[in-house]
Amino acid sequence: MSTWPAAFADACITDPPYGDTSLAWDRRCEGWLVQVARVLKPSAAIWVFGSMRFIAGMFDEMESYGFKYAQDIVWEKQNGSGFHADRFRRVHEHAVQFYRGAWSEIYKEPQFTNDARAKTVRRKTRPTHTGHIEAGHYVSEDGGPRLVRSVIDIANEHGRALHPTQKPLGILAPLIAYSVPPGGIVVDPFLGSGSTAIAARQLGRQFVGCELNPDYVGLLDERSRQVDLLTA
Ligand SMILES: C[S@@+](CC[C@H](N)C(=O)[O-])C[C@H]1O[C@@H](n2cnc3c(N)ncnc32)[C@H](O)[C@@H]1O
Repeated sequence: MSTWPAAFADACITDPPYGDTSLAWDRRCEGWLVQVARVLKPSAAIWVFGSMRFIAGMFDEMESYGFKYAQDIVWEKQNGSGFHADRFRRVHEHAVQFYRGAWSEIYKEPQFTNDARAKTVRRKTRPTHTGHIEAGHYVSEDGGPRLVRSVIDIANEHGRALHPTQKPLGILAPLIAYSVPPGGIVVDPFLGSGSTAIAARQLGRQFVGCELNPDYVGLLDERSRQVDLLTA
């Protein structure tokens, strides 16, 4: 990343190794935030996925690069990865948004969903000329699209993932659409199987990223092919 130009990217959306376990691949990486802060435009946002333990430890470092807390979402991933039998079964991860610059200058496109439409079913009055009520006498109205909720329930990719911590595209898509302007650039220093990259491409955004493990770099092509087949 140190070879990338300065101030070219609109947002960073990333899922670093959290360092929560002793698993070989779960090694916390230091020094990436200074590079992200350098390559982002002056007014920009960073979304970081992680456990509370991991993200709480990042607040001071974020602040040292001028990034303030904006909001957080919860990804509810059904069967989770809790390692403890004496705690609540952990079935979620957080993604926290930090921003630099004036909030009013940060790109943000509120996301709406049709899934949450409020439905009211009204029964029309009985027609006077007949005692018979057709199905058409019931009218369904909705309250219009609503803001996407901060708890997003999307199945994890267990059983079909190419990467051990592969994120579903559906959890990246609303963050990219919210924080990266159409045609804009999102960076992800920890690409893994390339979820950020593929979701960005699907949404007409550009991406730049890196991945340490050469075996995973090839996954981006393979996963793109899978996605292309599914959406063809
Ligand atoms: C939590 S995974 C990201 C998974 C990704 N979100 C996905 O959906 O596939 C973190 C990734 O960061 C990579 N990584 C770890 N240290 C790195 C480093 N110093 N530079 C670049 N990538 C690194 C790991 O190999 C791993 O693939």
